[in-house]
Amino acid sequence: MKVIITGGTGLIGTEISRQLLEKGHEVVYLSRHPRSNKLNIKEYHWDPDTATIDLEAFKNTQGIINLAGAPINKKWTPEYKSEILRSRVDGTRLLFDTIQSQQFPIDFLVSASASGYYANSKEMEYKEDSPPGSDFLSVVCQKWEQEAQLFEKIGIRTVRLRVGIVLSDAGGALPEIARPVRLGLGAPLGSGEQWMPWIHIKDIAAMFVWAATQNTLSGVYNAGGPYNVTNEELSKQVARVLEKPFFMPNIPKFLLKLALGEMAETALASTKINTDKIQATGFKYTYPELTGALKDILK
Ligand SMILES: NC(=O)c1ccc[n+]([C@@H]2O[C@H](COP(=O)([O-])OP(=O)(O)OC[C@H]3O[C@@H](n4cnc5c(N)ncnc54)[C@H](OP(=O)(O)O)[C@@H]3O)[C@@H](O)[C@H]2O)c1
Repeated sequence: MKVIITGGTGLIGTEISRQLLEKGHEVVYLSRHPRSNKLNIKEYHWDPDTATIDLEAFKNTQGIINLAGAPINKKWTPEYKSEILRSRVDGTRLLFDTIQSQQFPIDFLVSASASGYYANSKEMEYKEDSPPGSDFLSVVCQKWEQEAQLFEKIGIRTVRLRVGIVLSDAGGALPEIARPVRLGLGAPLGSGEQWMPWIHIKDIAAMFVWAATQNTLSGVYNAGGPYNVTNEELSKQVARVLEKPFFMPNIPKFLLKLALGEMAETALASTKINTDKIQATGFKYTYPELTGALKDILK
């Protein structure tokens, strides 16, 4: 089948593409800056800001995997916060308007959301029907998911994946955690007690592919590993795998806030998600254990 990936040039999209190609599927990207890529995937132009989109991309397309969005690991100025939100909401809306106005007969949309949908809590374990939080990222996720649900309303099979913290050596949180550890300066962030819903990059990509190819999946699924760990446990395990010491004092909250501003929320947020629902569909992890996942990525 042919699949369009928006934001396919990013961390998760690249691994999803590899896996889809391996299974013999055709992949094309919608990108703001079409260029060549290592996987030789054809890139078509779109720009959610100006509502432009190349209709050629949609020819004979069965489905869309929607990942595009401005990265959240940049300084959260008011303008940038607006871009974080707009890039996701406007991008998803542009896809919807295009599919509807052109009557493109697509079978499915698999759209990213994030575990940041839920409120910051050290006590709660969130299932998919748990209520959302009210902080900035939570509101972004809610609005992003609402746009994806428009597809559901016109009868297109729609899957929303609330993605946890993706572990990869090519980007995301892990290189940031591993860098000080490699220098012997690893330390928990804040109290270190915050829950982190980790998942190996190959498993999150496989979940997107699973959602795209299994017709029985629809609705919303938590997309993390089979269990969560605290920030302290994650950092300690990184140190163990890298055979580095781990004895530095915790980095206090106020220092993180000073260094990162409001974005410190993401490093300090505690989210424990329950992934029974996706596992009950038959999804199997390649890296169900954190140590094995870290060894695969860091060694
Ligand atoms: N990585 C994680 O741990 C994680 C966790 C939870 C949720 N997620 C979500 O999952 C999605 C994919 O994650 P990722 O880590 O693969 O992200 P990524 O590496 O930052 O890639 C996202 C892609 O989105 C496009 N993009 C960037 N800024 C944009 C903007 N202002 N407007 C429209 N498109 C823009 C880019 O593609 P072009 O330059 O080709 O247009 C980019 O390659 C993201 O939306 C992210 O928020 C990721």
